[in-house]
Amino acid sequence: MTAEIIDGKAFAARLRQSIGNEVTRLQNEHSLQPGLAVVLVGEDPASQVYVRNKGTQTREAGMQSFEHMLDVSVSENELLALIERLNDDNAVHGILVQLPLPAHIDESRILRAINPLKDVDGFHPVNVGGLCIGDPSALAPCTPVGCLLMLKDYFDGSLAGKNALVIGRSNIVGKPMAQLLLKESCTVTIAHSRTQDLPGVCRAADIVIAAVGRSEMVRGDWIKPGAVVIDVGINRIQSDETQKPKLVGDVAFFEAAETAGALTPVPGGVGPMTIACLLRNTVVSACRQAEVECRL
Ligand code: GUN
Repeated sequence: MTAEIIDGKAFAARLRQSIGNEVTRLQNEHSLQPGLAVVLVGEDPASQVYVRNKGTQTREAGMQSFEHMLDVSVSENELLALIERLNDDNAVHGILVQLPLPAHIDESRILRAINPLKDVDGFHPVNVGGLCIGDPSALAPCTPVGCLLMLKDYFDGSLAGKNALVIGRSNIVGKPMAQLLLKESCTVTIAHSRTQDLPGVCRAADIVIAAVGRSEMVRGDWIKPGAVVIDVGINRIQSDETQKPKLVGDVAFFEAAETAGALTPVPGGVGPMTIACLLRNTVVSACRQAEVECRL
């Protein structure tokens, strides 16, 4: 193996440490304790794990965590009423509604109801549009921000002129990732299920972000020598050796590691960065709402 392994777990731990320090300063100097409200509808086991981890890490960083676990049968109007209360609550600086929502609830209507200043997921159309036009106050989605922080660290700050390929066009990862890379002056390609000759397109990329949700789809011979590969996939498959379930990414890790300059593992790569970036967005939002400087 030649590639450097980008340790997202360690990176996220350092980021959470600096967030914790900033929270302590905000409390001491401004009596400001950032607060994050997380709303979960239903009992999807994976979503329950994410929500529990968010709550734990929010409290560990010294912030207030408000958790709202709603029955799967909750009506759209009841959920809208909760969001209205959270919008009006001065102790709540960030609001996250865990997706996916049950089919009887209009996701777009719910996301639009969140005050854009408290939209720490960056999913409200005001923040999506703000990201596209380069508004510095726009809140950007946490997973792509986490990917970008790791890339900037690897490239010592500048990504200008790199050929970046984003595989996947979701609103949560692919599209905002492409916007963030464009802002960093990359030449950005977005590939998707209809892209022709994806292996060939991939071989031209200095940076590959794989966010398609298909286990080990990106093979080693798709990777340009020295390229940096960020694997956003989290896919549960049955291990051939142990017959037990295991997590794999969208990239065939051991193959890609023979050619790439650096790559993120699954687990322990992008995953831990997402919650750290959520905490960061919450502190940034709290400072804006309280009109005090944020030193993150
Ligand atoms: N479900 C999967 N990823 C996310 C995310 O980043 N935010 C929310 N709210 N739900 C998700």
